[in-house]
Amino acid sequence: MSPKTFEDMRQFIYDKSGIFFEKNKEYLLTNRLKKRMDNLKMNTFEEYLRYIKSVSGTKEMPKLFDAVTINETYFFRHINQINAFADAMVPEMLKRKRGINIWSAACSSGEEPYTLAIALMEKYGSNIPARILASDISNEILDKAKEGIYGEYSLKELTVDMKKKYFDNIGPGKYKIKDTVKKKCVFKNINITDDRQLRSVGKMDTIFCRNVLIYFDNAARQKVVNKFYHDILNPGGYLILGATESISRLKTEFKLCHFKMAIAYQKPL
Ligand SMILES: C[S@@+](CC[C@H](N)C(=O)[O-])C[C@H]1O[C@@H](n2cnc3c(N)ncnc32)[C@H](O)[C@@H]1O
Repeated sequence: MSPKTFEDMRQFIYDKSGIFFEKNKEYLLTNRLKKRMDNLKMNTFEEYLRYIKSVSGTKEMPKLFDAVTINETYFFRHINQINAFADAMVPEMLKRKRGINIWSAACSSGEEPYTLAIALMEKYGSNIPARILASDISNEILDKAKEGIYGEYSLKELTVDMKKKYFDNIGPGKYKIKDTVKKKCVFKNINITDDRQLRSVGKMDTIFCRNVLIYFDNAARQKVVNKFYHDILNPGGYLILGATESISRLKTEFKLCHFKMAIAYQKPL
């Protein structure tokens, strides 16, 4: 890809999704787009760029998002955050309201929202006091989430008992999430940098936005975090980022809260 095409391509992707490819990630972008271009029988990046910028290219957007997103995830990722949520944040919020709304805002193949459902089922039984919205920008990954079939890697943090309790073993190293868990989560395609789509989210008590803002630059992070704070979170609600992420460089009114081996950002009451 020529330097000019790389610049144009990354700007286009950034404008549409917030995802920013640093110069040293050019090879990654090139490899990922190449696969898509092969499917379309396009030979040059210039041709593909012209296509996605054209009117007919709008229908290509979901495929572009499928191609450029990184979907690494697994059940009970950073378990200290999950425990802090289920054992401290949820009981505290339930002192103020009968049920809470939870949003997994970049849910990938579903491990995160299903983990939240399982953690709450462990604590409250099958009638959990919460509704879980799970969303992602990639349709391909959302289809996987809705299918709910996982391999050993995704379940690596789970005990044999937990696997038995919440999954059906449907083949060697293949597990299907049980319907009792699945029906707790509603899946939707939402681009968290798209104001119009964010309006469909409604009010939330906790937003899990883990391991996605790392792919954005500071301007896009600031925009998304402002939206979460002002338009989506209820007072007293929490924002939970990835365990290695922080918003300390951003301007926000969030209060930093410390839990056992985990932190979260709270919108003051
Ligand atoms: C590394 S995964 C994180 C999954 C899960 N939250 C976790 O921490 O295990 C990042 C996800 O963010 C999604 N993503 C990237 N940009 C997005 C955007 N603008 N809106 C919504 N989701 C986005 C990707 O499709 C991908 O599935």
